[in-house]
Amino acid sequence: MNNRIKTSDPAVIALCSVAESEGIATVFDRYQAQQPQCGFGSLGLCCRICWKGPCRVDPFGDGPQAGICGADKHTIVARNVTRMMAAGAAAHSEHGRHIALALQKIGKGLLPAYRIRDEAKLYRIATLLNIDTQNKEMLEVAYDVATKTLEDYQNQDHHKGCHWISATLPKKRVELLSHLGVLPHNIDATVSQIMARTHIGCDAEPKNVFLGGIRGALADFNGMSLATELSDVMFGTPSPVVTEANIGVIDKNAVNIAVNGHNPMLSEVICDMAREMNDIAKGVGAPKGINIVGICCTGNEVMMRHGVPLATNYLSQEMAILTGALDAMVVDVQCIMPSLPQIGNCFHTEVITTMDENKMQGARHISFHEENAVETAREIIQCAINAYTRRDPKRVNIPNIKQTAVVGFSSEAVMAALSKIDADDPLKPLVDNIVNGNIQGVALFAGCNSTQTVQDESYQVIAKTLAANNVLMLATGCGAGAFAKHGLMNQQATEQYAGDSLKAVLTAIGQAAGLGGPLPLVLHMGSCVDNSRAVSLATALANRLGVDLCDLPLVASAPEAMSEKAIAIASWGVAIGLPTHLGTMPQVTGSDVITDLMQEGAKDLFDGYFIVETDPKIAGNKLVDVIKQKRQKLGI
Ligand code: SF4
Ligand code: FE2
Repeated sequence: MNNRIKTSDPAVIALCSVAESEGIATVFDRYQAQQPQCGFGSLGLCCRICWKGPCRVDPFGDGPQAGICGADKHTIVARNVTRMMAAGAAAHSEHGRHIALALQKIGKGLLPAYRIRDEAKLYRIATLLNIDTQNKEMLEVAYDVATKTLEDYQNQDHHKGCHWISATLPKKRVELLSHLGVLPHNIDATVSQIMARTHIGCDAEPKNVFLGGIRGALADFNGMSLATELSDVMFGTPSPVVTEANIGVIDKNAVNIAVNGHNPMLSEVICDMAREMNDIAKGVGAPKGINIVGICCTGNEVMMRHGVPLATNYLSQEMAILTGALDAMVVDVQCIMPSLPQIGNCFHTEVITTMDENKMQGARHISFHEENAVETAREIIQCAINAYTRRDPKRVNIPNIKQTAVVGFSSEAVMAALSKIDADDPLKPLVDNIVNGNIQGVALFAGCNSTQTVQDESYQVIAKTLAANNVLMLATGCGAGAFAKHGLMNQQATEQYAGDSLKAVLTAIGQAAGLGGPLPLVLHMGSCVDNSRAVSLATALANRLGVDLCDLPLVASAPEAMSEKAIAIASWGVAIGLPTHLGTMPQVTGSDVITDLMQEGAKDLFDGYFIVETDPKIAGNKLVDVIKQKRQKLGI
């Protein structure tokens, strides 16, 4: 393998050779061109908050120890990381707002392309939010649920927390967070307050700044909870489905359309319209019609609801175009590489942006609004079909690499599988197996891909260690993508890697649930906004046992954390009491005050803390040790 290509994915290695021979730069080349990266920035010690700057603090103590305004290294680091948490919260919560506003319009009968696909869930949410449903039509309930949800963006009463946090975390945890003063009362206000307090000359007390960031991270949790749950109402709650993952899902005999990004509002309609327009694709000579494939988290969304195969995850999104067989890449929001249009232009591929606030130079923009979703989806698909007619068969090169993946384990799907063992008390089999040690603990893998590591490798190394130690594993986002691509989300992986007792439990549940074999080794819980699914399962477990989340043998791991969203997720993970592993070095190590706060300080406050470990073998063992300690404390 070329050392420059930092990936463990054989499909990516194969396609990087194509890029090289065509003289096309990829993410790996741009990473190389950035070396060595700025040491001040890596430590979080560069401040660009005002135009007297940039200022930087000398980490060795020889040069300046404060910025021009007097901010020291702790204040600078705290402000930088806190702003990242706010950006993460903003990203998830804008996504959530988009979904909530759409549900409100559906409730008013204004969006004919959409409907309520999970009515039972709508009513469950209404109950959760204390909404009276008596004598109301379903659409009226939908309107009320959306309207009450939107109060989480509007409430000005500081004494009232956001509805969704209160409804989705254990009572004990909500009380602790409230006591610590880190419960958000309003998502928008929290993000706005972080920007204000980190403006030059405002909050300069590093711990206070950081705790303001934790409130932002909890606003992120609130935003993703509502985004996830309301998406299920509109698009259906995922249940297990067998599909495939990795670049081999691109089909040379079809018009290939990749959906990339995070928000399912458009991709859902594209899936519907693709079925209707299949014959048009066949009419221009594509024998298999239209083939939708997913990338990143929009990929996760359509994979778990419709079994749409996943072409690849974040870091290798450019590779889909390098196959020469991708006719269109349709993008919505978040984690979309601005390099895509340039690479698309080297082929016949249409790179299509769809959100007016998320455009890219060189891309075709087709503006998407829910009101004209069907027309937009048709226009996009027609664009892909037209591009197919320009495809050069001589340049088609699709590595035949793909793996079977069983995906779609929403918390409801997990409960449904468990209820096949005990219909009256579905959590009992899980509780019993945790107590008797057949399952030692539960780990949630979340987060991104990063060039700081070898793509997808740490996920696999850590998961294999945890599997051998009988830890039940859940995954979301590009972590889920990594497991799906590398064959760790199927039944064979359970047979091959699970410890004996874990294997026995996964087999018993899988058999009872009618899967004809064990559950997959790692359960796919969805996109990165779906991390709240794992929390709802954990909350159900905690409530069942009358304990707090920090008491349970639960851990989280983000082996390739990269985006501001991941920083927000990891931070609320800590705030809700989870030991949370980061496999990439966070940009905070320039301040011992902040690094101590993230570890020991957080432990005192939240009983959750960060574990920073870049070696995946050591990280896996550390997580196993943490789980053992938690079990010991519980006396099991
Ligand atoms: Fe420098 Fe202070 Fe301005 Fe930051 S806020 S750039 S440390 S003067
Ligand atoms: Fe994501």
